[in-house]
Amino acid sequence: MKTAEYSPGLEGIIAGTTTISHVNPDRNSLMYRGYDIKDLVQHSDFEEVAFLLIKGHLPTQSEYDAFCNTLKQERNIPQTLIDTFKTFPTNSNPMDMLKVGVSLLALQDPDKDDDSHEANVRKAIRLAAKFPALIAYSYRISRGQDIVQPDNSLKHGENFLYMLLGKKPDSYIANVFDISLMCYADHGFNASTFASRVTVSTLSDLYSGTLAAIGALKGPLHGGANEEAMKMLLEVGTPDNAEAWVIDALATKKKIMGFGHREYKTGDPRAAILTEMGAEISNKLNDTKWYQTAAIVEETMRREKNILPNVDFPTSYIYYLMGLPIEIYTPIFAVARIAGWAAHMIEQLDNNRLIRPKALYEGPQHLDYITRDRR
Ligand code: ACO
Repeated sequence: MKTAEYSPGLEGIIAGTTTISHVNPDRNSLMYRGYDIKDLVQHSDFEEVAFLLIKGHLPTQSEYDAFCNTLKQERNIPQTLIDTFKTFPTNSNPMDMLKVGVSLLALQDPDKDDDSHEANVRKAIRLAAKFPALIAYSYRISRGQDIVQPDNSLKHGENFLYMLLGKKPDSYIANVFDISLMCYADHGFNASTFASRVTVSTLSDLYSGTLAAIGALKGPLHGGANEEAMKMLLEVGTPDNAEAWVIDALATKKKIMGFGHREYKTGDPRAAILTEMGAEISNKLNDTKWYQTAAIVEETMRREKNILPNVDFPTSYIYYLMGLPIEIYTPIFAVARIAGWAAHMIEQLDNNRLIRPKALYEGPQHLDYITRDRR
């Protein structure tokens, strides 16, 4: 047996090997299958990145076309799911609805009894294709709106915006959104991905792993941070108020959402990409208030704590400027991250060993048992 080593929160512990993404804090870089995220956001799109993550290589043109077609063919969800969404309480939490949607899909997956690599790849693509409809439909229904059918002339990300908001985004907005999806698509052994790998390491299925991942993503220390960051910016209100607000919050030991990272201590490359997009979209839409407020929050955090923004900070006000409802920001993260989750679960299953760490027991031992009538 290997020597046990304890690190709270598993910080710094290597929990497995992967060839999917490389988070390199020494260089503030992120690579998917060896390709730098900076190059991918410049030259690629979410569909190609999803192919890269799931299949392991960049697609040829014909592979890319076939993959995009499959994603489109698989966009719809069964009517039984839509009927079930109608029974949800008004204003249900979109991440909770996504969990139910994924559970219901599991019951109807044509490959549900096949755990081969090929079947898992098909399930991965199916899940990635259906996430937008699961989220947009359940959201609209629970808010008393009619659903919007997918439009197959639109790409994955822009079709999601269309199904969610009921109007087609212009090409600039669609492109910024696509870049955010590429940035969110994978990130090493983050909490949700690790949860999915732990789950399938028991030889459970991709749907179960996806449910574990959604649950982990929901928390504000992980994917939930993009929603909390925007709520914070709204509370800050104006650029003039930002410095004092942050100093006050730090004085009361509040965590500033969208800041800090377990791995990157000197800069999250995704935040750098998206902060630039945040400046650009603010200028294009002639609405710079949130970008300016965010810039002062950032400056103050750097000066006071030397803590930098993570990916969730710029996406918060970018999505706000796009007119997206705040409670849908974390589900958007899931729309992107399902590609990474699926790739990791397949990698885990292709070379599986049960993930089962030890606990350092700190409780009492050898106590005398006292019967209930004598306690
Ligand atoms: N605001 C204020 N202080 C912070 C922040 C923050 N956002 N992040 C870290 N710190 C401080 C902590 O208070 C702690 O200070 P102390 O040593 O004086 O107690 C120190 O920095 C270390 O922080 P930890 O929480 O122990 O660092 P850890 O590596 O465990 O946490 C985490 C990383 C959870 C991301 C943390 O920075 C955080 O809570 N950030 C806010 C939530 C957030 O933005 N999450 C999204 C992460 S990225 C993603 O999931 C896509």
